[in-house]
Amino acid sequence: MLKNPSSKYRSFPPVQLPGREWPNRVLSRAPIWCSVDLRDGNQALAVPMNVGQKLELFQALVKCGFKEIEVGFPSASNTEFTFNRRLIEENRAPEDVWLQVLVQAREDLIDRTFESLVGARKAVIHLYNSTSPAQRRVVFGLSKDEIVKVAVRGATLIQDRLPRLKGTDVMLQYSPESFSATEMEFAKEVVEAVMEVWRPTPQRKMILNLPDTVEVATPNVYADQIEWICRNIKNRDSLIISLHTHNDRCTGVAATELGLLAGADRVEGTLFGNGERTGNLDLVTVALNLYMQGIDPKLDFSDLNALREVYERCTGMDVPARQPYAGELVFTAFSGSHQDAIKKGLAEWATGSQKHWDVPYLTIDPADIGREYREVIRVNSQSGKGGVAYLLESEFGIVLPKEMQREFGPIANQHVDRLAREVSGAELKTMFWQEYIERTAPWQLERFETESRNGMVRCRARLLRDGKPVEFKGEGNGPLAALVHGFTTIGVPRFEITQYSEHALSAGEEAAAISYIQIKLGNGSSRWGAGVDTNIELASVRAVLSALNRL
Ligand code: KIV
Ligand code: ZN
Repeated sequence: MLKNPSSKYRSFPPVQLPGREWPNRVLSRAPIWCSVDLRDGNQALAVPMNVGQKLELFQALVKCGFKEIEVGFPSASNTEFTFNRRLIEENRAPEDVWLQVLVQAREDLIDRTFESLVGARKAVIHLYNSTSPAQRRVVFGLSKDEIVKVAVRGATLIQDRLPRLKGTDVMLQYSPESFSATEMEFAKEVVEAVMEVWRPTPQRKMILNLPDTVEVATPNVYADQIEWICRNIKNRDSLIISLHTHNDRCTGVAATELGLLAGADRVEGTLFGNGERTGNLDLVTVALNLYMQGIDPKLDFSDLNALREVYERCTGMDVPARQPYAGELVFTAFSGSHQDAIKKGLAEWATGSQKHWDVPYLTIDPADIGREYREVIRVNSQSGKGGVAYLLESEFGIVLPKEMQREFGPIANQHVDRLAREVSGAELKTMFWQEYIERTAPWQLERFETESRNGMVRCRARLLRDGKPVEFKGEGNGPLAALVHGFTTIGVPRFEITQYSEHALSAGEEAAAISYIQIKLGNGSSRWGAGVDTNIELASVRAVLSALNRL
């Protein structure tokens, strides 16, 4: 990299927009959405979708509620043409869905595009040509005037052919491609020249799409550009201002959101941000960002996992694990403090005491988009005791006492650290069983019997100590007190039972009950033990032996 990047790169000039209004506005409703998955997204795939895949994705987009779908570039390939024809001839688009097609300002391409649309109920014809200084200089070698002429010629060719689409409700759309890198005055000039041809009215608007074809500045600059156009363009009320951002600086979503504040009406983008280079705007994120602010996005992502599956199958792309809302790890907390906070937040939400969702670290309820909060917590070496306890409880009904969580959490973490991967609930249970339940040395239970008389309990215990039989008797005010006393009679250093809890294990477990016991030694140190048995008394005896075996 250069020591002095300014010798090669320059900053993007700000827009002169005194009294800009967008920073003071708030979003309050959903825009008109247009999916460009089947065109912009498709053209960026190593292997573009075949007709079958496009049909499946089209169906999925309709199911989400998209009413405007750019179905392709029918003049660019036979697949795109055939796909468009199948949608129309097989009547696959619902009555309220507009089929949008893209075309450059060339007569042969425009003719073919019109052919592809015959019989369509609703169609958007989307004309574009590039307007930025770099495109004018490097690609076309055309002056500003010549660029305006290209746009006007394209618009005129389209206008002249409209009678070919009798019976079709047609809406016209123009994009000055690379708008955000174009001088604002010139962008306005080109657009107004196209408007001169199409003559939109408030009753018959045209779509003016303003692409951030390549992100060149911070998103506030794009917002300024949108507000500048909204303020300065003639006949604003005859236009549907549309945004089309890409993601080169990773601010495609931000640019769109600020562009909406700046006065835009419509948003183009793709599912999960598929598209050229770093992708198009991710429509799912923008829609769910609205949703998490309490605004109905007018798109339904109730089963985001299923949508993601269709998308991945059709496009061959993967949704990254950290993609907002949709990524595999989005509702997963690895850090112990996050897990703890989420657990408490979900518990509070379950009480119904809160009107509005306010669970730490979870922007929305995963259940609203078909994701499960069971996915929320997994355990890796960074997880705290809360995550470990949560998995044992939610998957196996093992409710560790709080203090025991503090003991077992670090033990589990050490195991997970050695494995160097995250672990499942079943693996955690195995760790717990090995640590507490399955220890048989030095002490192992052979037999334990009690009888009580006058409030006193007497016990007879037969144990194995390092494999050798040991028998003793003891007495106390309960079976455990009798056991503790019995140990002293065979010279085991004094200990006391400081905590005790038990519960039934969930159905399907091999044993009926589990006991947790903490013992405290004369030197002040303590240990937890756990025991499982169909007999609750024996479960607690086993728990004492487990604690002694862990000394
Ligand atoms: O990114 C872009 O500028 C485009 C246009 C064709 C609208 O995709
Ligand atoms: Zn694009």
